[in-house]
Amino acid sequence: MMNQASNDEITRIGPGTPAGRVLRCYWLPAALAVELDGERPLVPVTLMGESLVLFRDRDGDLGLVERHCPHRGADLCYARLEGGGIRCPFHGWSFDRHGQCLEQPAEPPGSTMHEKIRMRAYPVVEKAGIVWAYLGEGEPPAFPAFDCFTAPDSHVFAFKGLWECNWLQALEVGIDPAHASFLHRFLEDEDPDDSYGKQFRDLSPDGGAPLTAVLRDYDRPRLEVEETEYGLRIVALRDLGDERMHVRVTNQIFPCAITIPMSRTMNITQWHVPVDDENCYWYSIFTSYAEPVDHETMRAQRLKEHTLPDYAPIRNKRNQYGYDPQEQATRTFTGMGFDINVHDQWACEGMGPIQDRTREHLATSDVAISRYRRLLRRAIKKVKNGEGSLPLVVDAAAARNITGPVAIDSIAPGDDWKGVWDERDRERRAQCSWQAERKKRA
Ligand code: FES
Ligand SMILES: [Fe+2]
Repeated sequence: MMNQASNDEITRIGPGTPAGRVLRCYWLPAALAVELDGERPLVPVTLMGESLVLFRDRDGDLGLVERHCPHRGADLCYARLEGGGIRCPFHGWSFDRHGQCLEQPAEPPGSTMHEKIRMRAYPVVEKAGIVWAYLGEGEPPAFPAFDCFTAPDSHVFAFKGLWECNWLQALEVGIDPAHASFLHRFLEDEDPDDSYGKQFRDLSPDGGAPLTAVLRDYDRPRLEVEETEYGLRIVALRDLGDERMHVRVTNQIFPCAITIPMSRTMNITQWHVPVDDENCYWYSIFTSYAEPVDHETMRAQRLKEHTLPDYAPIRNKRNQYGYDPQEQATRTFTGMGFDINVHDQWACEGMGPIQDRTREHLATSDVAISRYRRLLRRAIKKVKNGEGSLPLVVDAAAARNITGPVAIDSIAPGDDWKGVWDERDRERRAQCSWQAERKKRA
């Protein structure tokens, strides 16, 4: 069991906190690119406990700066967008996207005071439908050559959703393969032909039973966790009897993401990004290894479950997640409908704003969670001591060799499962219309 200080250390992310310093060593999702579509590309962003505004200036350049004007604190959400930056509507001070004050029109002619005024500003880049921000010190790391970053725009789709809880409990549900057999259990199987864009609804890899049936009928997976250059590879083995083993490979991408299979042709890479200590966004990139992603269908499916501009889920704790005891008795394990995101949201939010880990009892099925916390503690120590390297904090040359990761469901003959998922993944890549390369077994 954990003491309170340890729980604080791995959950709290404000500036200067141990976990906050680790997360700030990485590019983090700040907004969906579509949030900057439209006439006024400027949105408030709260990220890692910091109040910021994200904008595309009239020259088309992205900027992420603090939300309150360094003059007397006016709200720059209402700034005027100009070529070369933004202008505060209160007294007209203007700033470029690096936060440098350019003009103070109410000051006496010849004043050079503006040269000394600079507000916090962070580097931002757009990639795979997401605007990424680097809140750390020094040079940001390069992006790894993961499939979600190398696939063409036609084969990726990004979406996000707000959860009212700490980022770590949100991440931990994604590295807990056992829960899928319970939390996401459907007592009836839907038509797999109607599975597009939905998790667990496809057929299992041999084309036999729907994956929902495999998860439901084999609910005691054996887990194998292996440390990799990017985090953890988590293999969940379900012995189907009959000399067949269902092998599901998922991953933890350090520090706050996962890559998991969604269907036979699509994977999800999902970040759990702190808004502040008690709220987080999930950002998902869906990557297709087959036909282009149907962006319109994917977005419409998800917009039905969320309200804009916050991407807040319509089912939430204020309406008991739509809980229906009748449904729980006959159709689903939770009674909260068929969107698995809602199930995960309930599991995470129900723990409270920050899970009290002094009262938890980790079990055998939590092995990936224990391993992840070890990685996080190791990283905290390295950053604190200013020594040693962190996973994925690498330069461009090294980043080019970090590929994959493999996330796939496969069926192997009995206990001889080790090479099978690797082979299935290579087959899928060989047939892919874009260059879904994987350098080595990674
Ligand atoms: S508060 Fe922004 S210019 Fe005065
Ligand atoms: Fe889940």
